[in-house]
Amino acid sequence: MKVAVLISGRGSNLQALIDAGAAPGWPAEIVLVISNVAGAEGLERAGKAGIATAVIDHKTFDGREPFDKAMTAAIEKAGAEFVCLAGFMRLLSDPFIDHWRDRLINIHPSLLPAFKGLGVHQRVLDAGEKASGCTVHFVRSEMDTGPIIVQAEVPVRPDDDAKALAARVLEQEHKIYPRALRLIAEDRVTVEGERALIDGQ
Ligand code: GAR
Repeated sequence: MKVAVLISGRGSNLQALIDAGAAPGWPAEIVLVISNVAGAEGLERAGKAGIATAVIDHKTFDGREPFDKAMTAAIEKAGAEFVCLAGFMRLLSDPFIDHWRDRLINIHPSLLPAFKGLGVHQRVLDAGEKASGCTVHFVRSEMDTGPIIVQAEVPVRPDDDAKALAARVLEQEHKIYPRALRLIAEDRVTVEGERALIDGQ
């Protein structure tokens, strides 16, 4: 399965997907990395792995839809049939989300549907949660919603600050994102209503 990855920054989840791709028989190939931010660290990671990159700067477009159209054009030109958001910090327009329906996934650093949006880890601490985690899900038009494919839970420790919790969650992100992509590329995931089923379960 040919995949495009959309990033805005560090790209550590992109790196996890790249690293997973080194396994023999891995069923997903990253053919393009798009960043909306020039100089994003993830672009360097892609370059080192020999993956084509593109910078599509949202600021140079007159609104979300033309920006999203340019991304779809680049993704399709690269031959990708599937899109992973990996720390891509722009909201996507409905036409983009509809076009890529069930072929567009995101990773979010909380146990969705709890703690959507930004600044998640501090909000988890402020709420006194005993556990947090991360979620890979299909993208729907409402932010941070959509059928959940894989989640991982981590404990929240009494002495955690947002940075410590983020690091613990990120370690799990790097495990579940490749796992989710592999399940999809192996055709083991189906979407039924609001649920993503793995091997029919
Ligand atoms: C990750 O923690 C990801 O879950 C989060 O941004 C970080 C990107 O890190 N994404 C969101 O908050 C999306 N709403 P990375 O660039 O090192 O992969």
